Amino acid sequence: MLELKNIRKSFGDVQVLNGTNLRLREGFVYTLKGGNGSGKTTLINIISGFLKPDEGSVELKGKKIARFSPYRVNRMGIGRTFQDLRLATQMTVYENIMLALEKKKFAYPTKEQQKRADEILEMVSLSEKRNELAGEISYGQQKLLTIGCCIANNAELLLIDEPVAGIDKDNRVKIIELVKQLKEAGKTILQIEHHPDYIKETSDYVLQMEKGIVC
Ligand SMILES: Nc1ncnc2c1ncn2[C@@H]1O[C@H](COP(=O)(O)OP(=O)(O)OP(=O)(O)O)[C@@H](O)[C@H]1O
Ligand SMILES: [Mg+2]
Repeated sequence: MLELKNIRKSFGDVQVLNGTNLRLREGFVYTLKGGNGSGKTTLINIISGFLKPDEGSVELKGKKIARFSPYRVNRMGIGRTFQDLRLATQMTVYENIMLALEKKKFAYPTKEQQKRADEILEMVSLSEKRNELAGEISYGQQKLLTIGCCIANNAELLLIDEPVAGIDKDNRVKIIELVKQLKEAGKTILQIEHHPDYIKETSDYVLQMEKGIVC
């Protein structure tokens, strides 16, 4: 469903991506590993439209999307989480999910949207936290909430940057179950992660980022 060809990206003199190729097939879970600063997040930024490659193409189901805005890429079915979360911390958990659901500007949420938000909160084990501020739930719960926002987006391809880094075992198990559930539902996932158990439990393919290319 997604194909990257010969992606190059540098920041000043630093060449981060050096002719990266990648092909993702629908319905599989891919895990990207690699040392600090090896360019993993940069790759996700390029796929999601937050950065433009210096060279190379990104094709989603045969359509070239590398020059599209993040908003347009998102509307085409690619959702993402951020390594540094970027939730609306002064809004409630429920409101964060509502924000991510597609709706008309200034419109009140419909009954269906409210029902969908409830379902998603259930999926990410946050029903009981729905009225708490996103900034006040635990770090692990915040990670679950970012994935919930990605689900609310209705993305077919989810790009998840370090879902379990720095979180406790309970929430890690919840995220493992969630990723399995998303795969069951036919979603394609590209995730960055290092945790060995997590990788073993969730991944169909493990990819290694080295010297600016994916091996
Ligand atoms: N917007 C930017 N401007 C300048 N340099 C950047 C920018 N984004 C990333 N870099 C640099 O590019 C390199 C790769 O960064 P990237 O965040 O992609 O690495 P990473 O593999 O995700 O690392 P980590 O495991 O630490 O998250 C780093 O040297 C980083 O400092
Ligand atoms: Mg990173």
